[in-house]
Formats: sequence, C-alpha cells, structure tokens
Amino acid sequence: MPTMNLTPASTSDYRRLAEKRLPRNLFDYIDGGAYNETTLRANVEDFDRLHMRQRVMHDVSNIDTSTVLLDETLSMPLALAPIGLAGMMSRRAEVQAVRAAEKAGIPFCLSTVSICSLEEVAAAASKPFWFQLYMMRDRGYVTGLLERAKAAGCKTLVFTVDLAVVGARYRDVRNGMAGNLGALSKLRASLEYPTHPKWAFDVGIKGKPHTFGNLADFVPSAKSIVDFKAWVDAQFDPSCTWKDIEWLRSIWDGNLIIKGVLSTEDAKAAVAAGADGIVISNHGGRQLDGVSSTINITSKIRDAIDVIGDGNKTTIIMDGGVRSGQDIVKAVASGAQSVMIGRPWIWALAARGEAGLDALLRTLKAEMNVSMALTGVTATADITGKVLDID
Ligand SMILES: Cc1cc2nc3c(=O)[nH]c(=O)nc-3n(C[C@H](O)[C@H](O)[C@H](O)COP(=O)(O)O)c2cc1C
Repeated sequence: MPTMNLTPASTSDYRRLAEKRLPRNLFDYIDGGAYNETTLRANVEDFDRLHMRQRVMHDVSNIDTSTVLLDETLSMPLALAPIGLAGMMSRRAEVQAVRAAEKAGIPFCLSTVSICSLEEVAAAASKPFWFQLYMMRDRGYVTGLLERAKAAGCKTLVFTVDLAVVGARYRDVRNGMAGNLGALSKLRASLEYPTHPKWAFDVGIKGKPHTFGNLADFVPSAKSIVDFKAWVDAQFDPSCTWKDIEWLRSIWDGNLIIKGVLSTEDAKAAVAAGADGIVISNHGGRQLDGVSSTINITSKIRDAIDVIGDGNKTTIIMDGGVRSGQDIVKAVASGAQSVMIGRPWIWALAARGEAGLDALLRTLKAEMNVSMALTGVTATADITGKVLDID
C-alpha cells in the first residue's frame, strides 16, 4: 500500500486520497454501486481478465494516441463522463473538469444534475463541451434545458436512457444519501465536517452555492441537495421509449448520443431511431446489479452494428471500469472508438483538485502510449482485435 504523502501514480492512488479527504457519505456516493455491487466489480475485473498480446521488434519510436470522434480531433480516445453532484466533491468541480479536459484535448460531458450550471461551465470553457440529458416528465423543462445547452455552445447531447427507475444503492441508503436522512444520520453527517477540514473549507465553505445549477430555476422551492434529488428522482420518466427520440430530434439538431445501451438489440434500435452514436454503459454499476460488464459486451455490440452496415456511421463509446491507459487500448481493440471515465476523474479532483486531474489525464495518455508501443501499434486506428490475446 503506497504512503499517501507520495505522488499518486495511478487511479487507485487517487481513490485512496479521495477516501481520506471526503466525508464518508460523499465518498460512498461516488464509489458505490447498486445492490451488492457485483456489476460494479465486474466492470473492473473483466478488464483485468482481458489480456493484450505483447509484440516486439516493431519501430515504435513515434506513437500517436490521437483520434477523431464526432468530427473533433482528440489527443486520445477518452472523454470525462457526466457525474451528478460533482461539485460536492471539489470546489466548483465541473468548472475545474472542463478546464482540465480542454488542456488534455478531450471532451467533458456536463451532467443534468451538476452543481455548476451550463452557463457557469460555458464561461470557463473556450470550446464546446458535451451535455447529458435525463428525460423528465416535465417536457417543458427538457425543452428549456436544451435551449440553454445550445446557448452555452454544446453541440453533442448525451441522452441517458438507463435511469427509467432508480436502482437502490445500499451505501446511499445507509448514509442517508437516498433522501432518508434520519436524526442519527444527520448527527453523523455533521460530525464528518470537523473531521474532514480540507474538504469542509474547500467545498463546504468556498464551494457554495450547493444547488443543482441547471435546476435552480425549475425547482425554486428546493432548499437543499436532498430536496433537489427528491425532485429529480420523481421526475425521471419511466414511460420514455424510442419514439421519444423523434421528439428530441425535433428540438436538438446537434449530435445525439444514447448512453446506457447494454444489448445488441438496443444498440440496433438506437441506430434505427436515428442516433449518431451510443455509449455502452451500465451507469458504472449503479443501476441494475447483475447485468454484464461493459467490456464484456463491447465487441458483440460492435459486431451487431457492423452487421447492419452502420459501422462507419455510428459512434461507439463505452464506459465502466476504465482505470488505466491499458484499459483504453483494450476497449478500443474491442471495438469502441472512445471510452469515458467516471469515478477516476472525480477521485482525482477530490484528491488533488484540477492539478490532480491534469496529472491523471497525463498518466492515462502515457499508459496508453506504452500499451501501444508494447503491442506493436503506432496509431489509434491500428488498435484492433489483433492487440488482444484471445483466440
Ligand atoms: C457518482 C456518479 C454520478 C453519476 N452521475 C451520472 C449522471 O448524472 N448522468 C449520467 O448519465 N451518468 C452518471 N453516472 C454514470 C457515469 O456517467 C458513467 O457511466 C460511469 O461512472 C462509468 O463508470 P466508471 O465510474 O467505472 O468509470 C454517474 C456515475 C457516478 C459514479
């Protein structure tokens, strides 16, 4: 176990630092998954089980990790996934994240339920960032939000479809984060502040206001994060179907990416509904525990989309369990054009702020570089199934 005074070298180092820095309920909120967390573990373990093929004696003196995704050139096939409540983990975290992503040459995706609003993030950004949408019962709210996203310069909408109902996260229930804060949990939560003084100063005092930035106008009665969360949970629309994509298309003319696809049938349905791309995702193991890991299903979904002849038109992104540059290479070799990371970026920000996230993104790129060199490929486009050691 590394001593935490040392420079963090890996995502798991940032995780341990975040655990020390954050109040227990907040650390558990980002770290935990649904029910027994089987899928959460599988997301990571199935990456570990997938082996690469070491190749030697190739000229690997020039490696190019860059790629083109949705007409944008990225320094590597990576984006920062939408994370709700990020601004509770580090001061105005979404603003720090968009800046770090721009420096690293990758996209940042802002959550509907972010602490910083679209406008606050846009003011810190110098180019378009992505916006993530949940379908709410109040379609007027959705329309208004998309108008704001357009005005903020967003060109890519990531529409999350795996939250028709909310999966139980036992850690959140135990900590009172599921909107069930009893007197005892309240007392315990208040004791977390003096015992986590760095977080209390950085976020608790300097990081205000603690509202859901994009919702403040819609839910003027909300006084606390718990009030906002209760409103959002009641607003998720379980009646949403592929037909609603037509309506979304009528009010959004930018890129439309469907996030939360985990079966070949749904991947094909997303293409048929007119999506520009999909994110293969199980919400980081936070929704239905017991479903497949995402890396396990990626190549099957890639094959299904290729079979319907849409391989070059549909953008395939995956997320869940990506913890290193090696994992990025494994995901691309399995058929994803890019990955997204969720927990790793918020661990890095919680642990060391923007400088921490800058360093993590440099690390991931360096790891990807080494993985390419030692599997004998020099360009992202050459990362194919041949890089994997599977028969
Ligand atoms: C704390 C937390 C909050 C999240 N909030 C959102 C959200 O607001 N919208 C969304 O589409 N996905 C959300 N996700 C899912 C992530 O976008 C992403 O799919 C997942 O974190 C990827 O798995 P990883 O954490 O193993 O990288 C959240 C995930 C976590 C861990």
